[in-house]
Formats: sequence, C-alpha cells, structure tokens
Amino acid sequence: MKVLGNIGVLARCLPAGPQDDANLVPDAALAWADGIIRWAGPEAELPAEFRGWPAEDAGGRLVVPGLVDCHTHLAFAGWRADEFERRIRGASYLEIAAAGGGIASTVAKTRATSAGELLERCRSHLAAMARLGVTTVEAKSGYGLTLESELRILGVYRALALAGHRLVPTLLAAHVVPAEFRDRRAEYVELVIDRIIPRAAGESLARFCDVFVEDSAFSLEEGRRILEAGKRHGLRPKLHADQLTGSGGAELAAEVGAASADHLECISGRGIEQMARTGVVAVSLPFASLYLGVHPLPARRLLAAGVPVAVATDFNPGSAPSYHLPVAMTLACTLQKMTPAEALKGATIVAARAIGLEREVGSLEAGKAADLAIIDADSVEQWLYHLRPNACLRTVRRGETVWTDSG
Ligand code: NIG
Ligand code: FE
Repeated sequence: MKVLGNIGVLARCLPAGPQDDANLVPDAALAWADGIIRWAGPEAELPAEFRGWPAEDAGGRLVVPGLVDCHTHLAFAGWRADEFERRIRGASYLEIAAAGGGIASTVAKTRATSAGELLERCRSHLAAMARLGVTTVEAKSGYGLTLESELRILGVYRALALAGHRLVPTLLAAHVVPAEFRDRRAEYVELVIDRIIPRAAGESLARFCDVFVEDSAFSLEEGRRILEAGKRHGLRPKLHADQLTGSGGAELAAEVGAASADHLECISGRGIEQMARTGVVAVSLPFASLYLGVHPLPARRLLAAGVPVAVATDFNPGSAPSYHLPVAMTLACTLQKMTPAEALKGATIVAARAIGLEREVGSLEAGKAADLAIIDADSVEQWLYHLRPNACLRTVRRGETVWTDSG
C-alpha cells in the first residue's frame, strides 16, 4: 500500500465527459494497494484510513495515468532506413512496396528470426517505452503471414504478458497478401479464415483481429469476411482503414462493430457519421502521417461529430519507426489540432477503450489499476509543448515502480 502525495496536478482522465477535460485536480494525492487504486482526489481531503499508509512525495509534479499505446507492430526484425531515404528522394510507399520492399521485406526478415531473438527485441522496445511512461501496449502480428510464423509472433507476446507486461495481442494475418500467394490471393484469405484465425483464437493468443483494408492489401469484401470470421471465434474487429486511399474502411468498421478504426487520413464524411453512430473509436497515428508525408486525419471533424480520437505510435519499421508516444501526442496537437488535454485522454482512457481495457486502465480512479507516470512538468500543456527526450521521472505499473529517473 502506498500514498503518493504532493502531486502538483493530477490528471485523472475519467471516461465520462468531453475529451478536452482531463479532470485536473490540483494539490492531489493518490492511494493504492495490491496494484489497485483505492482513492484519488485533493490531498486535503485524503480520508483518515489512508493517512497512516507509507507515503511518497511527487515533488509537486504532474501525475497522469500510465500511457496506453493502442496501436503498435511491436514484433519485427530489421529496419528500413534505406526506404526512408528512397521516399525522401521521391519514391512513394506504394512504389517501394510494389518493388518488393515495404512490408514484404520486413516479413522476410521476421520469418528468418527466432522467437528468442524477437522476444529480446520486443523486451528492449518495451523497456524503452516504460521509461516514457507507457504501461499498456497493443501489439499486432502481421510480419509472419504464415500459420507458423503468425503464431510464433503471438507466442512472443504471450511470453511478454506472462512476464508482467500489460500487452494486448492483435492478430494481423491480413496485413498484406504474402509474395508466395500473389497469384492466388483467395487462397491466402481462406488460410487466414480457416486456419490462422481458429488457431490464434483457440489458443487464446489474440484478443482482436485486424485487417489492412487498402488497394495494395485487402479489399472491403475480403476485410468483411476476415473480420466476421474473427468475430465468430471471439476476436473483436479492428481495422487499418482509409490510410492511403478512401476505400470505405471507416464504414466497414461501423458495419462490423469494430472497437476502433485506425489511420483514417482519407476518411469520408459518411465514414465519420457512421463511426459516431456506432461508437467506433478513431485511432490517430501522427507518426505514420508525418513519415509518409500525407495530411493527418481530420481530428477536429471527428471530435465535433462525437467520435473519440485516440493517439498511438503505430510503431513499425516502415511508416512509423518510433515508439515515442509523448512525441506522437505533441504531433497530435500540432498537426491534428487536438488540445493537450485531448491528446492526453487520447493516449490514456480513449486508447484504453480502443483495446477494450477501459474498465481496467486509462484513468486514475478507485478500482482501476495503479498504472501512472510522474511527469517533470507543472501542467499537461507544459509537458506536451516543451519537447524533450524524456520528461517522465517515474513509471508505476500495477502499483510497482518499473522505471525511475535516477539522474
Ligand atoms: O500501420 N498500414 C499498414 N501497416 C503499417 C505499415 C507497416 C510497414 O510499413 O511495415 C502501418 O502504417
Ligand atoms: Fe499500423
């Protein structure tokens, strides 16, 4: 048990209310036991029962819920700095993919990498993310694209979860059609539906089923069939939707009752309306928009229509080679015109909703996990405005300190 006192500002990020209200409490305290929050509020009102608990001092700093990165492609081998340069010189993401680069090149490297090596790489990324205040990570497969290698990646995620990481696994066997199926794509779709989904779900290796709906990946009809098959096996749908072209992905997300539709740079007005009507969360991925040089999703229009907008990194070796969620939040402010409070809720409670964990994490209130970050700033605005390598002084997950800045 512990009481964290002398919190300059506590951003509670409660699920109800507008995304622009981070539920700030000045001069606050937070009490937890057994990894669960027991009380949060103004320090002057701390109930007597918590007064004798072991206390720590937050030094007048900002305290926020542990950040939730609700969209990553965590397990991959190799990097693609060569493509970064080719894009700068004018080649497009799709041209590079058509020439055998892009996702296919990471698939080849990932297939050739052992589970042990993938595990080590993921561990090192997760440790770096924890240092930034991130306590929950959604992680997709999708660089295997065979039954065996997709299950191997999901097995790596299971090992990480068993080791204490708060990790939510998503099956993305429908990332692209792998090269060996290029002339028989229907067979690959059948493989995903008949074999990969049943195994991943049957062995409880994934909670969500994701599809990249795009001209260069899967059609709307293929996406619908795959997501419906996932649902029959208990996997909630998610989509990579309307990223490079507007293809009706947001509308499909609404139709199948997806937890989220992600990217959405090219979303239609109808897509916005339908997401609002059906309660699908929009996941904005500012790094992907920035690295591919495309305009970001219309966050203001989505928010005005009543669609909650999460912020995530999309960490992957192609379009978003960074796991720095606080920088993505700053970009959500500058590029997408989200307020700092909207970006913070977008990377906490709204992100938790996008991965079905809104009852466990994402806000600081009694009954939820004691996942939090102490930030060296006196306000949310100051934190996201003053871009620095790392403003996180301490990260707590399930009530235990997993990172502390000793400098
Ligand atoms: O979310 N859009 C598809 N997938 C990734 C890119 C993956 C890659 O380029 O390796 C994304 O941006
Ligand atoms: Fe992605």
